[in-house]
Amino acid sequence: MSQDNDKEIKGHDYDGITEYDNPLPVWWVAGFIGTVIFAFIYFLHYQIADGPTLKQDLKVALAEIEKVKAAQPADILSEDELGVVFNDQKNIALGGQVYAGKCAVCHGNDLQGVIGPNLVDQYWIHTKGTKVGMVHTVAEGVAEKGMPPWKDLLKGTEILAVTAFIYSKKGSNPVNPKAPQGDKIETY
Ligand code: HEC
Repeated sequence: MSQDNDKEIKGHDYDGITEYDNPLPVWWVAGFIGTVIFAFIYFLHYQIADGPTLKQDLKVALAEIEKVKAAQPADILSEDELGVVFNDQKNIALGGQVYAGKCAVCHGNDLQGVIGPNLVDQYWIHTKGTKVGMVHTVAEGVAEKGMPPWKDLLKGTEILAVTAFIYSKKGSNPVNPKAPQGDKIETY
């Protein structure tokens, strides 16, 4: 009945049924020992040492997302989405602060234009009078004409806020406006 009597376990004979001592395959044993070692190190790292918990991991990941969001060039939003952002009074208020600190030197306290163009008339060189164009121009700048790129200096949220502020001042007719530059955009 048995082909390999060496492997037969003696003394195990139940109603004529005997069994062989077949060792588990090496790959299986190696895998098993591997998981035991892994579990041991895992336990040491996460339970004894200060390996991060899932909650801590989540917090780090969420913070990372916020950072990426804040650093976004902001010009990934559509005209309609920007419309919502531009209507938010909080954005306009924040934008006013950013404008006063960073933009007024060149565009004037009342956005009337000084070194840079008037930002409240209907004439636009780059933006075509669109919100998307405005956000893009502010983010990328026009380096050769003296308009700095702001995407590395301001957060994405600040770029959105300052453009919202400019938009909110549309048609405000400041005194001493700078002469129109660019094309007249009838729809602005
Ligand atoms: C150092 C001066 C300077 C500063 C500071 C500056 N700008 Fe400008 N900006 C310019 C100039 C010059 C232009 C016109 C570029 C051209 O002629 O092509 C311009 C153009 C623009 C335009 C496009 C206007 C158009 O007609 O298409 C926008 C929008 C704008 N700036 C917004 C901003 C905002 C917002 C800030 C602050 C975050 C800012 N600028 C800060 C000099 C400046």
